Amino acid sequence: EVEIHALLPRIGANIDDYTLGLVRQFELQGVRVINNSIAIERARDKFRTLQELARGGIRVVESCCVNNMQNLKRALDALGPYPVVLKLRSSRQGRGVTLADKEETARFIVENLRQPGRGIIVQRFYPNEERKDIRVLVVGDKVAGAALMTPAPGEFRSNVHVGGKGEAIDPGPELRGLALEASKLLGLEIAGVDILIPKEGPPMVVEVNYAPGFQGLEAVTGLDIARVIIKYITTSAGRPS
Ligand SMILES: Nc1ncnc2c1ncn2[C@@H]1O[C@H](COP(=O)(O)OP(=O)(O)O)[C@@H](O)[C@H]1O
Ligand SMILES: [Mg+2]
Repeated sequence: EVEIHALLPRIGANIDDYTLGLVRQFELQGVRVINNSIAIERARDKFRTLQELARGGIRVVESCCVNNMQNLKRALDALGPYPVVLKLRSSRQGRGVTLADKEETARFIVENLRQPGRGIIVQRFYPNEERKDIRVLVVGDKVAGAALMTPAPGEFRSNVHVGGKGEAIDPGPELRGLALEASKLLGLEIAGVDILIPKEGPPMVVEVNYAPGFQGLEAVTGLDIARVIIKYITTSAGRPS
């Protein structure tokens, strides 16, 4: 028989209720699980994440969640004119994020592509030249690395999966603080925090990833992130107090 001391769920796809139940089972049996099921449950829903962060006083990208055209019109009154970003509540790697340039496009997406019973997220669009995308990787109560992400030509999403390029940066105290605070609020011990810095105004959290990829970050920073994570889990810092 194998004795399990710690479990590191690295569920690539969007974690479903079935798998979350499996993770919870390990917790109930006393296994140390990083990230735990409650934190994963919050973070797997982008809108829930933003709600929690906003309540905790963390600045987030202005967002609405809509489930019909009437709601969408109200959201646009609050967020400003087209184009707007439309985003599935659970999606990754830029796949569920798109731009609607006019009402027709938005209507098609809202009416046909929203996840059943969940609505769809609407956000003000920050054009590439009016923002910077920063990805900060948090492990425990430390920042393990950070990168400035630049979208491929003709693209607004900076995810590596759609051709985004990363460049290692020192995030500085403000971004460090924002990333650590956001992770802590959600209860995530390992997190990839997406931060948007607008041309004018303070940085805002876009989303927080509960099973962040880090190969890209390792490549641009030369850091051994996997080692940092394993070290965190196997040392006292990684154990609950
Ligand atoms: N409101 C926005 N304005 C401009 N660009 C955005 C906005 N929201 C997201 N993006 C771009 O799209 C990318 C993917 O969005 P994100 O919310 O991080 O979803 P995913 O889980 O797919 O990474 C971001 O990294 C950023 O480059
Ligand atoms: Mg992202």
